[in-house]
Amino acid sequence: MFRRITLALLALTLCCGQALAADKYIVASDCTWPPMEMLSADKKPEGFSTDYIRAAAKAAGFEVEVRNIAWDGIFGGVATGQYDIVASSVTITEERKKQFDFSDPYYEVVQAVVLPAGKSIKSLADLKGKKVGGQIATTGIFVMRNAKVGAEIKEYDDVGLAIQDLLGGRIDAVICDDPVAMYYVNKKADTAGKLNISFKAAEKEYYGFTVRKGRKDLLEKLNKGIQAVKASGLDKKLVQKWMGTTN
Ligand code: ARG
Repeated sequence: MFRRITLALLALTLCCGQALAADKYIVASDCTWPPMEMLSADKKPEGFSTDYIRAAAKAAGFEVEVRNIAWDGIFGGVATGQYDIVASSVTITEERKKQFDFSDPYYEVVQAVVLPAGKSIKSLADLKGKKVGGQIATTGIFVMRNAKVGAEIKEYDDVGLAIQDLLGGRIDAVICDDPVAMYYVNKKADTAGKLNISFKAAEKEYYGFTVRKGRKDLLEKLNKGIQAVKASGLDKKLVQKWMGTTN
């Protein structure tokens, strides 16, 4: 008798457990892009994009596990199926759209040029003959290249290394997404006060979560989640939390 009840309970737990188990996706983030994706003191991924994808997943009823993956090679890993989603402040570009699918946009940025405090430029053209650093294969580097101003462009594995070279006088400027520039200029203890943002590019960029081409099911879930995060106003709260502003 007892055995039968136990078995029935076991069967019930198993089948319901399965019905309730949410789909789980592995997310890759290059946690060197503060405050968008970075590592906490105990080395866990955190930041605006990290919170955003977790909130979107919760709202749309799926689970995510965020892993810290180096930027160089991050797109290759989603192409080969090592992980499902790249949540790494990836700007949606026409070039990238040829190879990957993107969710709806979740944030808007522009490129910002960071200079040592007290130095200024009026346009990218003023960087002629100067050494300009940025993270390898990011839109900041693309903007500098397309501007063709005759600057010497230096690509770094991560933007923190470029900032260190800027502070050490080895390069003249750093180009990166404006929230990241703001973080180094205002917030990060060892760099705040030593730098300033002197120029912002006019062209707006939009971040999207990146998936392998053709993963329609996953894109639908991501977009549903993004919509819910926007509709609830949680997106504004995350901007406030990580950027300390309301826009
Ligand atoms: N938004 C820029 C791009 O898509 C930079 C992104 C860099 N992200 C990172 N986590 N390092 O090219």
